[in-house]
Amino acid sequence: MTASIDIDRARREFAPQVTYLNTAAYGLPPRAAHEAMLAAERDRAAGRMTTGQMDEVVARARGAFARLVGVPAERVAIGPQVSYFVGLVASWLPDGATVLVAEEDFTSVLFPFAARPGLRVRPVPLESIAEAVDGTVDLVAVSAVQSADGRLAPMEDLIEAARAHGARVLLDATQAAGWLPLPADRVDLLVVGGYKWLLGPRGTCFLTGDRELLAQLPAVAAGWYAGAQVWESLYGLPLRLAGDARRLDMSPAWQSWAGHAPALELLERVGVDAVHRHNLAMADRFRAGLGLEPGDSAIVSVPVPEGTAELLREHGVVASVRAGRLRCSFHLYTEEADVDRALELLADRVTVG
Ligand SMILES: Cc1ncc(COP(=O)(O)O)c(C=O)c1O
Repeated sequence: MTASIDIDRARREFAPQVTYLNTAAYGLPPRAAHEAMLAAERDRAAGRMTTGQMDEVVARARGAFARLVGVPAERVAIGPQVSYFVGLVASWLPDGATVLVAEEDFTSVLFPFAARPGLRVRPVPLESIAEAVDGTVDLVAVSAVQSADGRLAPMEDLIEAARAHGARVLLDATQAAGWLPLPADRVDLLVVGGYKWLLGPRGTCFLTGDRELLAQLPAVAAGWYAGAQVWESLYGLPLRLAGDARRLDMSPAWQSWAGHAPALELLERVGVDAVHRHNLAMADRFRAGLGLEPGDSAIVSVPVPEGTAELLREHGVVASVRAGRLRCSFHLYTEEADVDRALELLADRVTVG
């Protein structure tokens, strides 16, 4: 790995033209990643793109993700979307299995279980999900950080409760990986979409987890890219899947992976702990400006009158509305002036303190 860099240095790699408080919707690419994605597409147009280069960017992205969350690269599968990997897990569960989920979680963590006939899906409030684990639960599937409002799952309590009752845990860290330190080696499965806090384009996703459990998941969508030797797996039987998590790989959307590898490498150089400190400092500055106590999330959700997000956007501040509230998210490219700009515009519109 190349030398580490601090947040101020990393921020210079980004070029937003607005005050961007919307990473919970999609992350911004650092310059090198943006350029790499465009270069791959330019190479394709010119007929110069090579599959060897594309294999290399997938390997770089897999390695950087593995180091970022602290798992071996052989335990990381790559795919396009969260719901695909959650669907694999749903198809592995036996008929009659019970899946405990958080009410109002993001649907990519819910629908694959609800759509699989024969499973029992039990929604409970996020706050009591650890207490709701009992001997009837086979799997708990939950987002580490809620998309709608940034609430954190009680991960330690959940891991302990699941262990005590013999349940498995699937954590969706799409709104967490990249800024929140995660218990990646203590949950059974961890799925992460790449296009938010990991700063990738859409079309990249990772699944990691316990080695034996990964080996049990059915490779229901296996193709050539899941083969033991990718370029010797193009034609004909017999089935010859990779011996590690690559057996669950889906063939990569090349340009997306070209655009993701340098972004993951930048995050790795900054380090999750530094990003965590920075993002919480920005979120807490925002909270303080609104009269709120400090929090534990890089996503802050506040009630606002209708039209507030549009007003912000007219003034160059980009945030989202989710579940009827304004959702602002703060990442390594956010600076104090961004927070203050949003606060100025929100001054008479938010009354939460
Ligand atoms: C927690 C969570 N999981 C997954 C996704 C995206 O799902 P998919 O990759 O299936 O589009 C999002 C998007 O907002 C999310 O917040």
